[in-house]
Amino acid sequence: MKFNVAKNTIILIVLVIITSNSLLIAQGKMVEKEPKIEKKWWKEAVVYQIYPRSFKDTDGDGVGDLKGIISKLDYIKSLGIDVVWLNPIYGSPNADNGYDISDYQAIMKEFGTMEDFDALLKGMHERGLKLVMDLVVNHSSDEHKWFQESRKSRDNPYRDYYHWWPAEKGKPAFRPGAFEADGSGWRYDKQTDSYYLHYFNYKQPDLNWENPKLRQEIFSMMNWWFKKGIDGFRMDVIPFIAKDTTFPVITQEELDKNYQGRWDVFMASGPHLHDYLKEMNKEVLSKYDCMALAEGAGMTLKSAHDFVDADRKELDMGYHFEGTNLGYVPGHFKKAGKYLLVDFKKIYSDWNDTYSENGWGTIYLGNHDQPRMTSRWGNDAPEFRVLSSKMLTTFLLTMGGTPYYYNGDEIGMINAKFDKIEDYRDIEVFAEYEKVKIAGGDLKQFIEDQKTGGARDNGRTPFQWNATQNGGFSTGEPWLKVNDNHTFLNAEAQEKDPNSNLNYFRKMTKLRKSNLALVYGKYTLLDKENPNVYAYTREFEGKKLLVMLNFSSQKAVVKTGLNAKNATVLSNNYGGKSSTTELRPYEAVVMQLKL
Ligand code: NOJ
Repeated sequence: MKFNVAKNTIILIVLVIITSNSLLIAQGKMVEKEPKIEKKWWKEAVVYQIYPRSFKDTDGDGVGDLKGIISKLDYIKSLGIDVVWLNPIYGSPNADNGYDISDYQAIMKEFGTMEDFDALLKGMHERGLKLVMDLVVNHSSDEHKWFQESRKSRDNPYRDYYHWWPAEKGKPAFRPGAFEADGSGWRYDKQTDSYYLHYFNYKQPDLNWENPKLRQEIFSMMNWWFKKGIDGFRMDVIPFIAKDTTFPVITQEELDKNYQGRWDVFMASGPHLHDYLKEMNKEVLSKYDCMALAEGAGMTLKSAHDFVDADRKELDMGYHFEGTNLGYVPGHFKKAGKYLLVDFKKIYSDWNDTYSENGWGTIYLGNHDQPRMTSRWGNDAPEFRVLSSKMLTTFLLTMGGTPYYYNGDEIGMINAKFDKIEDYRDIEVFAEYEKVKIAGGDLKQFIEDQKTGGARDNGRTPFQWNATQNGGFSTGEPWLKVNDNHTFLNAEAQEKDPNSNLNYFRKMTKLRKSNLALVYGKYTLLDKENPNVYAYTREFEGKKLLVMLNFSSQKAVVKTGLNAKNATVLSNNYGGKSSTTELRPYEAVVMQLKL
């Protein structure tokens, strides 16, 4: 009798557990550990980055302008993208092409007027496009009125808007300054016998975020832009805004021990960083339906999630440099060496996983700081240029995180490969050239290295609209030479060709938009050790897509371990049929699996 009661009780408990679990599964609450993801428009968006200086010039001064962007809005819309990120268009003396801002609430003269800006924003919104602006607030220009005041005297009301070190305390402890031939991030200023901090060029003094007045100025400026109607900010080197302002000596041992030997990690994420970001969220971002992107200078896999954790109320998504930094030869300025695809896959998989729970990442291969993606990660030789570029486009539009696609990549533009230093325009490459010169290094080799490697001008040459002089970019002399290949590699020619890079990009944006699995789907890396093929699945709400990308110029075998026989091919950069076990050079296939 006793035994029967106990037995019945056990059966009852088991039944209750089974029923309540089925209920949970039916309600979608316990489906095989679905990651916590809230749907948002900016997660589903494809972002198109425009480098205004090089996009389209309408007044013949050789510099792109806002009217130029307006004239191309229908083209931009036709790409199937949702958001445009504009590099800085504010008042600037252009030491670093707009990343040195002298007036945050004005438009750079070369780019046009505030009326042009309003017309641009209106034209975008009318077409259902959103606009994201660049927010550069780690530093200003030395020509900003705050700095002009700050440097006047030690008791000037703007003194604490920047970081000063009085010379009587001796030389400040070393801090690196990018874009400087001597590599120093401090500059002596005679007027007040003090040094000021600049993590970049001396014309880009670092703002002091410890000063609440400065923070208020920035927040009110951001609110001003939001009230104008913009849809978000991409935040330049945002982890750098907070630093240890006692400026302690930092030894190599400390760097190695605490900061993975990386200066950028030390320079970033100082005390109060997340307090500042929470304050920014409360004072500005939380008031609008906007997106905020953190440029991840100095971020690590460990620190990245805190910036975008939905519960922390800071920013929305971040981007990292580990992928684009892969394969550079140590001790040389962005000299591209060999890299292993296995490492590439590991980096992108690890970063994907970092953001998979309650966070959000981005995916990019090109931007205004990078060489052209086809030259760096694909193959720009004539026989592979088109295919490899399409393969990389497939990668960007099928991975997790919001894709950031750089203007010109949709037509497969490649590196400028300048032969002379005189052809370059960028402050960074000049500083690095100077360094090699001072050290008595091989300048010829340096120029050669830039052709495949990092010089930023490679990705900044004017957009190639057509085959006419200057590629239809400008009637005047362009600020940076147009690539000679514009005679055959240009948007106009590609409009007419259904198999062009341009039309492939359009197909891929459509594919992403019609398959939420490519946005929210669980990512699983397959055939991990395969040295040539990057294969993965994206799985969401009962749909499973398989992506296979051959990163090599040879045929490559792929072992996904999946039965893809009855799969439907959604896209193939060769067109026609695809094999499920062998890929042609730079082949990119997307399939929907039968479940
Ligand atoms: C990152 C920007 O993308 C780059 O172009 C700029 O030079 C530095 N930050 C400094 O603002």
